[in-house]
Amino acid sequence: MLFITNKYLKPGMILAKDIYLYNNSNFNTLLLTKGQVLNNTYIQKITYHNIDGAYIESEEFADIIVESYIDDKLLSKSLSQTKDIYYEFKMSSGKINRSSIKKVSSIVDDLITELLYKDNLTYNIIDFKNYDTYTYQHCLNVALLSISTGISLGLSEQKIHDLGMAGLLHDIGKMLIPVEILNKPGKLTNEEFEIIKTHPENAVKKLKNLVSYDVLSGIENHHEKLDGTGYPYGKTDSNIHYYGKVLSVCDVYDALTSDRSYKKTSFPNEVIEYIMGCADKQFDYEILKHFLKIIVAYPIGTFVRLSNDKLAVVVKNYTENIMRPIIRIINADGTVGDDIDLLYDKDYMNVTITDMGYDYSNSGLSKVIKSTY
Ligand SMILES: [Fe+2]
Repeated sequence: MLFITNKYLKPGMILAKDIYLYNNSNFNTLLLTKGQVLNNTYIQKITYHNIDGAYIESEEFADIIVESYIDDKLLSKSLSQTKDIYYEFKMSSGKINRSSIKKVSSIVDDLITELLYKDNLTYNIIDFKNYDTYTYQHCLNVALLSISTGISLGLSEQKIHDLGMAGLLHDIGKMLIPVEILNKPGKLTNEEFEIIKTHPENAVKKLKNLVSYDVLSGIENHHEKLDGTGYPYGKTDSNIHYYGKVLSVCDVYDALTSDRSYKKTSFPNEVIEYIMGCADKQFDYEILKHFLKIIVAYPIGTFVRLSNDKLAVVVKNYTENIMRPIIRIINADGTVGDDIDLLYDKDYMNVTITDMGYDYSNSGLSKVIKSTY
């Protein structure tokens, strides 16, 4: 299968994966089913729901199989429960009881069970977040990323559970900030930013005595940076709680890859470049190294543009180097070339991926896809 952005979806293409809606009113609504042949109405539906694109069948790329990161039912259940907890917290001006914390803990348990026994923790999928930009959705993503990073770091199950709890609750303090400030499109004034900065402490005040000291510290420190430029305290490296350091990487990654309020979403490769540039300044290098094992710059089934100006599709990612996957060339005449191993094939050491290949005009792609009609 191949991931085709919505601009290039054409009637006649065959869907290779179900498309579910995950937004504030639909958590598990099946929009379109695998095997359906696209027509103009279906393509309009995909565009209408702000879905970036779809996985499409292709004979030449039939060996590429993209699986959901976690089970769709578990995702919708976790989203719906997290939403309830977040809105209960908002409506009661920050009251949260032990039974809500128990629910958070059970969501985290389910996510850990799902992720702990997965063969491959790599976040190799592009359509995972067809979400709106609600705080609870972001917190669930951060919980998932933090749990996976914790597993990759080899932490104990207890610590992974703590990390998941801190991830799921890390921004709950934002629910006490006026919506006009929280969702303001555009730049915040200094006064508004000062209000935003209160959210880690808001959460700590309300969660005190309900979660452990370590979970609280992780939440409190998730905006601190190693070089002391973070908030609320401007703590430096050794004074920042370890969970706070893990959360901060996952938080920034998810915020930058899903932020639709001010700008177009950045693609993983762009965000990874930014995050790698912040190693040892903003983020702990050891944690970052393990985080970079669970995400990929170029998910399988997506197009990339190469420095030799060729278009290719990502076939396999290596956890040891997420910038150099195995790729399959699409020639301008629509024929498909051999697989090239950018990591281990010495003949291609000087070839680099320059960008995600999201402009397919003047490429052989139309011929490749036509074969699936
Ligand atoms: Fe935050």
